[in-house]
Amino acid sequence: MAISDFERPLDSVAGQSVEGALGAASQDVVWNHDHVLDLDDFSYEEIESVITLAGKMREVLDRRIARAPILRGFTMINLFFEPSTRTRASFELAGKVLGADVISVSANTSSVVKGESLIDTVKTLSAMTADAIVMRHGMSGAPYLASKYTRASVINAGDGSHAHPTQALLDIYTLKQRLGDLKDKKIVMVGDISHSRVARSGMWGFSAMGANVVLCGPPTLLPSGFLVNERPEHARSALPDVDIETNIDVAIKDADVVMALRLQKERQQGGLLPSLHEYSRLYQVTSERLSKAKSNHILMHPGPKNEGIEIGGDVASGSNSTIEEQVTNGVAVRMALLYLIAQKNQREN
Ligand code: NCD
Repeated sequence: MAISDFERPLDSVAGQSVEGALGAASQDVVWNHDHVLDLDDFSYEEIESVITLAGKMREVLDRRIARAPILRGFTMINLFFEPSTRTRASFELAGKVLGADVISVSANTSSVVKGESLIDTVKTLSAMTADAIVMRHGMSGAPYLASKYTRASVINAGDGSHAHPTQALLDIYTLKQRLGDLKDKKIVMVGDISHSRVARSGMWGFSAMGANVVLCGPPTLLPSGFLVNERPEHARSALPDVDIETNIDVAIKDADVVMALRLQKERQQGGLLPSLHEYSRLYQVTSERLSKAKSNHILMHPGPKNEGIEIGGDVASGSNSTIEEQVTNGVAVRMALLYLIAQKNQREN
């Protein structure tokens, strides 16, 4: 590390003050969210705002001393009721890079094991004047419930099979870096669609950006309600319009983007698959199958991945893969969200 790195002002992006640089980037910011629970209520413009700011945050991360303490005095509590490596570390790092106070609570070492309810846990953390509570929970809807019992902004870091909005935003950012515009791009998600919160939030986010989303997996992992014309009248707009294809070779043909998804064994009832061997034979994303996609296709995976089951090891680390970029971009996107939430709270107080 060069001495000159220490001499650069801590809160600068490429020579400008962070507030100055973000100020320019945030001139046209469209943001009206107290919480980030899913992307179903995000417009194209709002997603664009997050992505533009994430680009500025990525510049901070790429500095040798990745620190821009613009969130001093902001308290963020990570409340994780399910295992996590990258999402949890990513939020922690995002907060720390921006100078926030970051506290992480794991359900198995908290008073939850003494029988405390979710609502009491949230009220307790809220009483510590948390500004943001980042929450992962095995029950779909848990962060929505939490948001009703706290003045803090709740960010959903994954709830059951329901939603994972920050994953979808980091995926959009990664794709926009590579492809520019997502309009009319064919994005194929392959795997355990039924139990995947990544797939659900991805459907909302990619569709909002104008992409054509194709869901692919065995029929037992593709519930019928995903097709608009199979939904009851009142549920027509419950999910965006997507295509479904059970044959992976047909689905991947001419794809711009292929995203492999992990089998969510922790959420599956028994009997959905004859065997893992059978699943990987029929649905593993392999180099042979990817040869049918566009030659410059992008291969994504949210992690954690099981190589040899849903994705081949060679393609996972190949030149079309963005798996590592997704992880770095995740920090930048979460920094952008924390900043947007802090700005809104500051304006309103
Ligand atoms: C995903 C999750 O937890 O939903 N992982 C992640 O957050 N990067 C996907 C998964 O667990 O398979």
